[in-house]
Amino acid sequence: MYNLVVFASGNGSTLQAIIDNINSGNLKAKIQLVVSNNPNAYALSRAQNDNIPTYIIRNNKSADIDIELLEVLSNYDIDLIVLAGYLKLIGSGLINKYTIINTHPALLPKYGGKGMYGMNVHRAVIEAHENESGVTLHYVNEKYDSGDIISQTVVPVYPDDTPEDLSSRVQRAEKVQLINSLKEFILNL
Ligand code: GAR
Repeated sequence: MYNLVVFASGNGSTLQAIIDNINSGNLKAKIQLVVSNNPNAYALSRAQNDNIPTYIIRNNKSADIDIELLEVLSNYDIDLIVLAGYLKLIGSGLINKYTIINTHPALLPKYGGKGMYGMNVHRAVIEAHENESGVTLHYVNEKYDSGDIISQTVVPVYPDDTPEDLSSRVQRAEKVQLINSLKEFILNL
């Protein structure tokens, strides 16, 4: 079985897409653990509803989180860590030990970096009058949104789009792209 750990800080609709595809048999994987820095993340309820173990990070600084998670994750079999709307920087201990991927809701290298997450990204894209945005799946390194790109999907931006309109269009494409890429990771194990 292909073992995933998913990190999520918020709503968790991306996590839900992974859960749904596993439950339907479309994705031959198991989520061993859902990790969050935010005790109120709805992603945690989604995991619990599916009887997936959850872990809430106790520390706040990236270096301390790195040590904490190295210890916690050593108890699990892990093929891949997926950042699905996780907002903390990943430390070098985790990066050196695991393969970690992140899904970002824009066409990196544009609209990435610290503070560029969720609706902030879509607002910035619309304010810049871009006519394209999209999704980037990439490996995680020690800087925000700058690891090697695995795949990208382009999504149109329409002149009257609100950030919410763009967000839902990007998130629909994001789920398709992530599930397809996860299938490839599983095939190449
Ligand atoms: C996703 O669109 C993801 O790409 C984005 O946050 C959203 C999480 O939604 N991640 C980032 O912006 C990271 N820089 P969700 O909580 O509903 O899965």
